[in-house]
This record gives sequence, C-alpha cells and structure tokens, in this order.
Amino acid sequence: MEKLGLLYQGKAKKLYATEDPEVLWVEYLNQATAGNGAKKEQIAGKAELNNRITTLIFDELKRVGIDSHLVKQISPTDQLVRKMTMFPLEIVQRNVAAGSFSKRLGVEEGTELKAPVLEYYFKSDPLNDPFINDDDAVALGLASREELAQIATLARTINTKLTALFKSIDVKLVDFKIEMGTTSDGQILLADEITPDTCRLWDLKDSGADGAVADGNIERLDKDIFRKDLGSILPAYHEILGRLEALAASH
Ligand code: TMP
Repeated sequence: MEKLGLLYQGKAKKLYATEDPEVLWVEYLNQATAGNGAKKEQIAGKAELNNRITTLIFDELKRVGIDSHLVKQISPTDQLVRKMTMFPLEIVQRNVAAGSFSKRLGVEEGTELKAPVLEYYFKSDPLNDPFINDDDAVALGLASREELAQIATLARTINTKLTALFKSIDVKLVDFKIEMGTTSDGQILLADEITPDTCRLWDLKDSGADGAVADGNIERLDKDIFRKDLGSILPAYHEILGRLEALAASH
C-alpha cells in the first residue's frame, strides 16, 4: 500500500490517502497536547506506544464482537484504516467521577457513579469542543436521532467490554473518549484511537514500581500525568502496553 497525499493533520495523528479509496493511512505522532493544544510537547516514543496500544485494544474488542475502522498496523508508527465519514463528536463514557465531570458537578474525583454517563462534545477547535446534548447534535445536523441511538448503544457496549478488558489487566477504566464514523456502506463503526491519551486508567495493583505515577491515593497510568505535570508519561504507557501484550499472548 502506498502513502499518497496528506488529508488531515490532527494533534496526535496525520491522515493520508492511499491508492485504495476505501483505505486511509494513519501516522501516529510524538506530540502530546493538553487543554485543546494550550500545552504542547514532543515525547519521543509516544507515537509507537499509542499505535501499538490502539492496535492491541481494537484487536481485543474485535475478539468480543466490536468491529472498528482498523485494517492493520503496518509499521511501528503507522496503521491502515477504513475510510469513514466521521461524526464531529467526541463521545465520552464515564464510570467514576474525574476531570471535567468532577469540576462541573462538584463531585470528588474517584467517586463511583451510580450508572455510567454518556456525554457528547462537538469537535470544534474555535469553540473548544463544547459539551452538547442530543437535541443540540440533531439541531446542528451533526448526527440524526437514529444515528445517535446507534452511537449511544455502541458506546455503552464498548464501555462494558473495555471495562472488563482493563479489569483483566488490573486497570480501572475511569472514563474514555471515542469517535465513530460511517463506512461507505452505511455501517457505524468505532474509529480514531483508544490509548492512555484518550482514557483515564488507574492502576489496581499496589506495587508502586510499575510505571504508575502516584497522585494522592490514585496511581495514574494515563495522560493526566502530562496534563497535571506529574512527570514522564512513558513508563506508564509502557506498562499499559506490556499488560496488553501479555493479555494478547494469553489467548
Ligand atoms: P474530561 O474529564 O476532560 O472531560 O475527559 C473525559 C475523558 O475523555 C478522559 O478520559 C480524557 C478524554 N478526552 C480526550 O480524549 N480528548 C479530549 O479532548 C478531552 C476533553 C477528553
């Protein structure tokens, strides 16, 4: 497969065309950002870690019946994916209070939620990805009512499967962001990435010497280490990768 013209440059990935109109080429970047790009850093090795982690997670989800846009990983930093028409939505699922949920609603970080929460954010850099509800999304033409129903069902199923997957490697899935799109034949699929950049992952092991960064009584294994200036993300991301590789090897 050949890499053709650049189609899109995001904060953490570049997207290229290929000679197959149904297949795109994704290149992961070393760049880490927070606060919608307000904080920015190059972290050598991050691209390879996130490419591998996303591939392993999408492969695990496929094993339990959740298909994604992933075709295959083709190099340490690159993968081929199905071309999709993306919904301009960040789809967030929460199991434990943290981040913007804790701040907005005054709930202490770490509080177990009585039921998972599904949120939508409108992907718009000039507007800073505002929080929206279903009516906003339909009114703005971001997705139809029927598409939102499918998106919500799929997001909740992914949350259930992903929570179990992470639990099996001693990690608590606090919350995560996913994106979805529609294939040329009208199928709504999981797309983009699932990595420690896009999830809050808390270590359930208490060893303290496994890459997790202690922050009060939370052992962080995700990008909050970068967002909160707690140190290097690399040992934590390596730890997540190592546990996912061990899980894959166990099948
Ligand atoms: P939040 O608490 O900041 O709203 O984030 C919720 C989850 O979504 C958290 O796991 C981080 C992830 N996330 C992204 O991946 N990209 C984003 O732009 C934002 C705001 C959150």
